[in-house]
Amino acid sequence: MLKVGLIGCGFMGSMHANCYNNIPDAKVTAVADLRPEKAAELAKISDAAIYTTGKELIENADVDIIDICLPTYLHAEHALLAMDKVKYVFVEKPVTLTLEEGKALIAKAAETGAQVQVGQVIRFWDEYVELKKIVESGKYDKVINANFRRISPLPTWGWENWLLDKSKSGGAGQDLHIHDVDYVLSLFGEPKTYYSVKNDNNGYVNTLMNYGDFVVGVEGTWDLPVCHPFQATFRVVFEKAVVENADGKFLCYTDEGAEEIKIEKVALSGGVSGGNISDLGGYYNELVYFCDKAAKGEKIEKATVCDAVASLDFLLRELNFKG
Ligand SMILES: NC(=O)c1ccc[n+]([C@@H]2O[C@H](COP(=O)([O-])OP(=O)(O)OC[C@H]3O[C@@H](n4cnc5c(N)ncnc54)[C@H](O)[C@@H]3O)[C@@H](O)[C@H]2O)c1
Repeated sequence: MLKVGLIGCGFMGSMHANCYNNIPDAKVTAVADLRPEKAAELAKISDAAIYTTGKELIENADVDIIDICLPTYLHAEHALLAMDKVKYVFVEKPVTLTLEEGKALIAKAAETGAQVQVGQVIRFWDEYVELKKIVESGKYDKVINANFRRISPLPTWGWENWLLDKSKSGGAGQDLHIHDVDYVLSLFGEPKTYYSVKNDNNGYVNTLMNYGDFVVGVEGTWDLPVCHPFQATFRVVFEKAVVENADGKFLCYTDEGAEEIKIEKVALSGGVSGGNISDLGGYYNELVYFCDKAAKGEKIEKATVCDAVASLDFLLRELNFKG
């Protein structure tokens, strides 16, 4: 049984606690949060020990895995300490606030041998996993163009409103749009050239990634009113088909007509509302992968700290792009 120490019991910490609760070989045995009521809520699920700060948990808890679901500006210092304590560390995305911090994590992992996975969850989200298989199979020939879009109401649920403070979250670019950027980089690699625009508060980013034979548009914003639903969509145009994920439908359009692409969903208990996503799907998949690697003592090969820092690097170049 893997003993998990979960740091940060807010929106994402709750999501992770529910995922671990669905993974038979893992158990959250310690939780930490500055807000006692949040820590108590998650501790109840698996009878976990409660700590007030992340650092107290890292210093004192007897755990095999440390999972960091803290606000982004706190990731680096906790991840560095966690790598000295355990071999398997999970850090939510975006991996760090700055590139320098990200590089420090890579160096620490090399020094300690720690295996670090980052919560770039779209790499594990069913529809996106299926799309990658379709692209790599070449069954519809080459990609002609593609579009990935992620739009969200303003995230007002964070502890002390940290998400709305650009110096703590990086704004919509770093917090939201990085999901699609990371996925597109994992699918197609670095573009030959790109053109990026954003608004002043980093609440809207739109980037065209030019791969020579095809172009990919990636758009993200959280400049929407609270009543607007969260939406994550994509459309990939191949020479022989269009694969589209939008409005809750995952479809393939060919000359023969539109056909649903079926995905088998695992039945899970628990879910979290209050943020912009309430499905455990991709979160469960990424933690199943992480726990499996930890149980076997194997290397993390998906959503690694190096992958995440490369995505952060590209994202920061987008935000600093001068046309
Ligand atoms: N993968 C995704 O789709 C996704 C979605 C949402 C958030 N996130 C990421 O997850 C991370 C957490 O975001 P969130 O939405 O859960 O934030 P949140 O504000 O809901 O939760 C953060 C929690 O950390 C606690 N905390 C702060 N400092 C602490 C400390 N020193 N020790 C212990 N606890 C402390 C706060 O009390 C709060 O409960 C962020 O990096 C965010 O970008 C990822």
